[in-house]
This record gives sequence, structure tokens and C-alpha cells, in this order.
Amino acid sequence: MKILIVEDENITRKTLSDLLRKEGHSTETAAEGEAGIRLLQQDAGFDVVITDLRLPRRDGMQVLKAAKSANPDCEVIVITAYASVETAVQALKQGAYDYVTKPLTPEKFLILIRNIDGFRKVRSENEQLKKRLDEIENKPMIGSSPVMRKLAETMRNVAVHDYTVLIQGESGTGKEVTAKTLHRFSRRSSGPFVAVNCAAIPETLLESELFGHEEGAFSGAAGRHTGYFERANGGTLFIDDIDDFPLHLQVKLLRILQERQFYRVGGTESIALDVRIIGATKVDLQQMVKEKKFREDLYYRLHIIPLRLPPLRERKEDIPELAQHFFEKRGAELLLRELPEAFFDQLCDYNWPGNVRQLENLIERIIATGDTGIAARLTAPETDTAGGIALNQPPHKKAAESYPSYETYMNEREKEILSWALEQTGHNISRAAALLDLPRGTLRSKLERHKN
Ligand SMILES: Nc1ncnc2c1ncn2[C@@H]1O[C@H](COP(=O)(O)OP(=O)(O)OP(=O)(O)O)[C@@H](O)[C@H]1O
Ligand SMILES: [Mg+2]
Repeated sequence: MKILIVEDENITRKTLSDLLRKEGHSTETAAEGEAGIRLLQQDAGFDVVITDLRLPRRDGMQVLKAAKSANPDCEVIVITAYASVETAVQALKQGAYDYVTKPLTPEKFLILIRNIDGFRKVRSENEQLKKRLDEIENKPMIGSSPVMRKLAETMRNVAVHDYTVLIQGESGTGKEVTAKTLHRFSRRSSGPFVAVNCAAIPETLLESELFGHEEGAFSGAAGRHTGYFERANGGTLFIDDIDDFPLHLQVKLLRILQERQFYRVGGTESIALDVRIIGATKVDLQQMVKEKKFREDLYYRLHIIPLRLPPLRERKEDIPELAQHFFEKRGAELLLRELPEAFFDQLCDYNWPGNVRQLENLIERIIATGDTGIAARLTAPETDTAGGIALNQPPHKKAAESYPSYETYMNEREKEILSWALEQTGHNISRAAALLDLPRGTLRSKLERHKN
């Protein structure tokens, strides 16, 4: 580091300077305040300033001020006699790093200087990390397959308009990132992005959670409560698993979409709402309409702009690009360069039932374990890709005619996976959801379904 020492006692100044040079730092010195300040004004490159508090011509407090104004990241250590510790505390308040009391010993300084050195390294690493995160966050969605390019084009058109959007796609295909991207590219980007998953909220609370309530609206409604819709005012409300939106509340949602206003539960005053609604679903909503489980009028309102996210197996050309992105996102460029040649082909040979999320989890696992061979084992029978669950295991070697239907088979597998996760986590839903990397609400609704 580059260190400036401002000290009027010749011996102290010289000893300190020698000490720090021996430690590998470069030093400059000044014997009085004025000279120190001049050096600081000429050169903003000092990392540390050590200054005595009592100095001829301008005191240590003024040196501190000059150091901070030349370079806010410069750390200042003040030297003080016992009698003036109060001034030293004053200096800390003005941004000094620490103070050292006389008599001085080399240890006192070395510890401080080493701490500052370590602190600066962490700070610069943090800054680099933050910059990289910003770059990644701002990267539009990855994927240059024809479908994804088409989707990106539609998104660009859709984002600037206020249309309601319905995103359809299997689990892990990127519905939520799509919604966030739409928000970021819209005129609402400085407003809030609020996500709600109806399946995650107990049905009895849902109405007041969504629409808010007035004080005394029902027993237990202590004060006024602001619901999700109101919190998203001026921005975007992302309704995940919108197929779970209870039938009796669908009318209210329809009204909001049509009239852009609503009432809190127990309220008489209508509240104007400027919210863009983006819904997401994994199921075929049209089929639900046919089965009278979803209102047809609401379906058409939501369906104004449908966006379909294709499963990863239908756009395998995106796999290498996505995988590379996930390595880079975690700063694992080195490992990326050392991957076996067949690595990406092996990834492409696999079917990815859990889509992009499963791919991301796999890359995370490869980074954590350094085991790049996982990709080769993906398509091998008896593969273990989910920490104990054989996701790619074919039905046991039975005669073809004795296979259960696809639906039954998948249901059974799902049940096994869910009970495994519950067992692992002592039946804690949140932890089981985290283990399976599923939203908690999705897990709840799956468990609900398997109960019957
Ligand atoms: N095109 C993409 N580019 C970069 N990352 C993506 C892309 N698509 C998905 N991901 C990543 O994959 C993971 C899953 O995406 P997301 O949560 O949006 O999926 P989803 O469709 O909402 O899943 P679910 O239905 O299970 O809620 C996220 O970590 C997301 O960042
Ligand atoms: Mg989601």
C-alpha cells in the first residue's frame, strides 16, 4: 500500500517509515500538517495516512479531512497522547479508521496496517463480485434457438405495452425470469415487481392477502392491511400458478382487469389500480375452462398475449449456452475451460424433465463437487441426478404390456420423490421444498393432490 506519515517527531517518523517499508509498503513523510495536506492534494493515490493529532501548522484533524476529501477510500490512523483521547474519538466520528496512543510500539501499527490491507482486499473483491452480478442480472434471457429468439422478439413488443400476459410452461422453464424481464423492459421498471403464489397462501386468508382489508373487516382484522395488488401499484403483479386462483375470487380479478379498480375486503371506497398483471401456469388453462374449473371470461382476459416457454428438450441448442452462463454466473470460468470435450454433447443427450432449473442445479453441483463426470452419467441407466432420486430411471425391466399408463407411472414417481423429501427434512414443508428446489406453494399443492 502507499502510506503517508505526518509526524513532527523526527525519530518516530523515521522509525515508522522504516517499519512499513520493511513490510513491503511504500511511504512518504511530512513533518508538519501543511506539508502533509499539500501532498494529499497533489496525489490522491494514498491508501493509508498515519497522522499525529498535534502538529505544527494545521493539526491532524485537518490532515484527516484533506485525506478523505482527496480519496474517500483512504484510511486514516491518528496518533494521540493519552491526554487527548477525546479528540481521537472525535477523529473516529469524522471517518478515521482507528487511533493509536503514545507510547508507540511497532506491533500496534503492524496489526492495524495488516487489518486495513485485508479489509481493502475484501472490499475490492466485493466490488468486483457486485459488478459481475450486475452484469449478469442485466443480461437478457439466455438462449438463441429460433423459438427463444422469436420469444425475445415478442417480449420486446409486449414489454412496452401494458397488455396482460399469460406465461405458460413446464416447471423450471423460466416463467418467473420472463415475467421479471418483461417488467424490467416496461415503462413500469422503476415501480415494484411483486410476485404472489396463490397456492402458497391458505385459502381462508387469500382474499385479504390479495386485496387487503379494512380495520374490523372481519374478526381478527386489527388494522388496515395492504394486499398484494395494492403493493404492486405502479408496477407489475406476477401471479404464479394462476390456475390455483380460487373460482370465487376470479370474478374480483376479472373486475380489476376490466375496470382497473377494486375494493379492500370490508371497504366501501374504490381504489384505483395501475398494475400490469402477468400470470403464469404449468397446466393447460383452456382444458380447465372446459372442465369449468377456470372462468372462461377471465381466461380470455388473461390470454390477450400468451407466451409459451418451450421445455428445454425442445430447444436443445440452448443447452451449451445456458450451461456456460451458469458456470460464469458462479465465477467458475476455470472449471468451464477444463471440461471434458464431450461434456456439452452429454448434456444435450439428456431430456431435462426439470428444464432450465434442473440444468442450473446440475451445474451448481458440478461446481461444488468438481465432478464433471456427472454429465456422462446423466443418460446412463440407474442415474442418480437428484441426490438419491433416480430421475432418469426407466420403469423397471418389466414386459412392455405390463407398464402402467404414463400418467400413473409419473404420479407414482412423484409421490416417491415427495415422501423422500419429507422424510429427509422431518416433514418440514419449507425445507422439503428447498431440497426439491420447488416453490413451497407448488409442493403444497402437489401434496394436496396426492392426498386424494
Ligand atoms: N432463459 C434463461 N436464461 C437464464 N436463466 C434462466 C433461463 N430460464 C430459466 N432460467 C433460470 O432457471 C431457474 C428457473 O427459472 P424460473 O424460476 O423462472 O422457472 P419457472 O418456470 O418459474 O419454474 P416453476 O414453474 O417451477 O416456478 C431460475 O434460476 C432462472 O434464473
Ligand atoms: Mg416460477
